Amino acid sequence: MVGNTPMIYLEKVSKETGCTILAKAEFANCGGSVKDRAALYLIKDAEERQLLKPGGTVVEGTAGNTGIGLAHLCNALGYKCVIYMPDTQSVEKIDLMRALGADVRPVPAVPYDDPNNYNHQAMRFADSLDNAVWTNQFDSVANRRAHIETTGPEIWKQTGGTVDVVVFATGTGGTLAGTSMFLKSINPNIKAILADPQGSVLYNYVKTGELIRREGSSITEGIGQGRVTANLQGAPVDDAVSISDFDAVNMTFRLLHEEGIYVGASSGLNVAAAVEVAKMVGPGKTIVTCLCDGGQRSYSRLFNRKFMEEKDLLRAIPEPYRHTLS
Ligand SMILES: Cc1ncc(COP(=O)(O)O)c(C=O)c1O
Repeated sequence: MVGNTPMIYLEKVSKETGCTILAKAEFANCGGSVKDRAALYLIKDAEERQLLKPGGTVVEGTAGNTGIGLAHLCNALGYKCVIYMPDTQSVEKIDLMRALGADVRPVPAVPYDDPNNYNHQAMRFADSLDNAVWTNQFDSVANRRAHIETTGPEIWKQTGGTVDVVVFATGTGGTLAGTSMFLKSINPNIKAILADPQGSVLYNYVKTGELIRREGSSITEGIGQGRVTANLQGAPVDDAVSISDFDAVNMTFRLLHEEGIYVGASSGLNVAAAVEVAKMVGPGKTIVTCLCDGGQRSYSRLFNRKFMEEKDLLRAIPEPYRHTLS
């Protein structure tokens, strides 16, 4: 139940751009997001390296989706699961992880170089226990291995080898890096493009090699980065596009009302990025992205009129669909 997700043809944006825009339905994984792939491989890696034995504890720092995936897999495999997360994340994700039996510990959101950053707290806690592993999704390359061994081959097979470009927003970088590494090993002409939200450094990093943060912050969850993770290091990335929250939200609501696909804002950002890429490469190309998680996971923000007004994003929702917010 991890991987082998459907590939969806996005009719509206394909017709508008003259490209074939396809998206992997990652919300169809057992834990409901693309991060189930990373979760499975992080646990497999810990088992292979004998860091985790029966009855052990998996500890992770996660903004949500990796924790949900880990919690599911820990139930299936007989491990305990402890999750540290920044206290800025959607309440739905915290509630779901608790319902799945994880011990969830929200901590103040502080930058990575602060010792109290959620990742460092997760590492210290795992160190303090016997038979426990900090799965370290950002810097364990077992994460990108999941995409080298599953997502990349699936995209190759499902497009019959016709894929020209992949474009993904990155959190850990696992999806983009692993997919790009696999596809380029088969056909070096395939392009891999990074889609970056507001407030992240990676757009400038890909364009200039410098870690300069873009202005603003983003309501998208799980994507955007302040550093180059080990998963992203050395991965072939050809170009980057920067996508505003306005365009990500606009596309999220278009996907729901025009294609019948209910997803979170990082998926909207991915499809908005695929449209940008289509304009860059011109008609006739096949562009693949992914729909990272379902919309219910961020319902309390994306579908909350007050929240969206406060973020000045209500105007990003196409007028005919605005009445759907409560
Ligand atoms: C909703 C969502 N979209 C996209 C991503 C990015 O995936 P990756 O970590 O493989 O870069 C994440 C990662 O946490 C996520 O939760």
